[in-house]
Amino acid sequence: MSFVYEVGGTIAGAVLCGTDGRRGFLHHLAVQPEHQRRGVGRTLATRALGALAEAGLDKAHLMVLPSNTAARQFWKALGWVERTDVVLMSRTKRTAVALFQGITRGIRLARSVSVRSGTLPPWP
Ligand SMILES: CC(C)(COP(=O)(O)OP(=O)(O)OC[C@H]1O[C@@H](n2cnc3c(N)ncnc32)[C@H](O)[C@@H]1OP(=O)(O)O)[C@@H](O)C(=O)NCCC(=O)NCCS
Repeated sequence: MSFVYEVGGTIAGAVLCGTDGRRGFLHHLAVQPEHQRRGVGRTLATRALGALAEAGLDKAHLMVLPSNTAARQFWKALGWVERTDVVLMSRTKRTAVALFQGITRGIRLARSVSVRSGTLPPWP
């Protein structure tokens, strides 16, 4: 489902596409600046969608930054529709670690308070 587009033995563009078995996901598509606006992006995107269709998948998603107006115009030209009914949620390892450390610290403090006094201190 992922392809490269070669011109004269060099890679002019590439698409990274995959699936979770239910939907297709176009993770990345990029065309070298000197090969842009020659149909390379369209060819790669169409080929990836063709591979998804061959696998029985008729729907695909991708993410694009709001500021990337060129890409947004490109995808719209290929028939993709922008959605406002889904929310993208992300989480980094650092956030997860900080959250975990915060929770375990809170548990430690709560235990030390309850062991020492036997009652919870008044809410400050
Ligand atoms: C977006 C990108 C992949 C397009 O690849 P491309 O090979 O230049 O696109 P194509 O030549 O196949 O263009 C197909 C159509 O999309 C539209 N399009 C493409 N680039 C466009 C641009 N910069 N501005 C407006 N419309 C554009 C046009 O309608 C075009 O048809 P036309 O050339 O006949 O007018 C390429 O610009 C790129 O690699 N950008 C940087 C990486 C990136 O942003 N990737 C997408 C992340 S979601």
